[in-house]
Amino acid sequence: MAILVTGGAGFIGSVTVEALVKSGEDVVVLDNLSRGFRKAVNDSIPFYKADISDAETLGKIFSEHEIDACIHFAAYAYVGESVTEPRIYFQNNAVGSINFFDILIENNIKNVVFSSTCATYGEPVEIPINESHPQNPANPYGWTKFILERQLEAYDDAYGLKHVALRYFNAAGATENRGELHDPEPHILPNIIFAAMGKKSLKIFGNDYPTIDGTCVRDYIHVADLADAHIKAVNHLRNGGDSEKINLGNGHGYSVLQCIEAAEKVTGKTIEYELQERRAGDPSHLVADASKAHELLGWKPQFPSIEQIIQSAWDFFESHPNGYE
Ligand SMILES: NC(=O)c1ccc[n+]([C@@H]2O[C@H](COP(=O)([O-])OP(=O)(O)OC[C@H]3O[C@@H](n4cnc5c(N)ncnc54)[C@H](O)[C@@H]3O)[C@@H](O)[C@H]2O)c1
Repeated sequence: MAILVTGGAGFIGSVTVEALVKSGEDVVVLDNLSRGFRKAVNDSIPFYKADISDAETLGKIFSEHEIDACIHFAAYAYVGESVTEPRIYFQNNAVGSINFFDILIENNIKNVVFSSTCATYGEPVEIPINESHPQNPANPYGWTKFILERQLEAYDDAYGLKHVALRYFNAAGATENRGELHDPEPHILPNIIFAAMGKKSLKIFGNDYPTIDGTCVRDYIHVADLADAHIKAVNHLRNGGDSEKINLGNGHGYSVLQCIEAAEKVTGKTIEYELQERRAGDPSHLVADASKAHELLGWKPQFPSIEQIIQSAWDFFESHPNGYE
């Protein structure tokens, strides 16, 4: 049996593909390379350059490989861009995935692990955030994932498509050969590292949030720990487990200024920054209660400290100054 991974040439997808192969799984990757890298996927892995709405290519994949589960990463994932360009988010993430889940049921695929996000919660009414916290997204990106969670619930009831929607908090870090390469890069940790390397000036958006030092607080989770959770989620479904929504985070929040301080410690560099206005769509404080992932999936992060996460990203950027080229 094989696992279809959409978006497997992207950041979290490529690390998960690497981990799946290491754990002995057969993997097939589909990615349209709109935001990913062909070289992030090993040549030995079957790769289809196609869109998630491409029913013909997907039909071919299901006839050529014995797929029994799918991990669906493919999406656009920039909160700020979703505020200024909502139509590409509703088209690519919402419409694209609605079509994709239809294609899954038409091909009798019954297990899907879906990349959801803490952005479905919006501004928290309670910290840490558990899975029953109200969902009221603060940006179009979060709404697209919210819609897809509701679609998956309806498709489970009507068609028996079982899902685990993993609501990740902030993915970060790297493995030795796979890391976070976005262009432009909107995420704070890689930008802090680029500033430490002298490659880019660092901008901080807002210092008047109701947090410890006024900057946004986030729960950073190592990408290798995320990958491990996906393997456990696939096994949960293969073992006949119910559909679930599960948070993935470390349960510890760091402000932007605390991240800069940690990065200065790890890299030994002084990191300058420029303060800018708040960015639309950013909640102040997002920290996970991930006890459900621990109890239900038996998942335990191996790299929980912010210093470990920053160190791994620093090592990756140092050893890959030109990305995958
Ligand atoms: N990075 C985070 O902190 C974070 C947090 C929560 C959730 N997520 C979710 O995790 C998933 C992966 O995020 P990432 O950071 O690895 O993003 P990424 O941009 O690095 O990877 C996404 C991949 O999907 C591909 N893709 C996009 N649209 C496609 C389409 N229509 N058809 C085929 N391929 C398509 C891109 O080419 C890219 O390779 C996304 O669904 C994102 O919403 C990410």
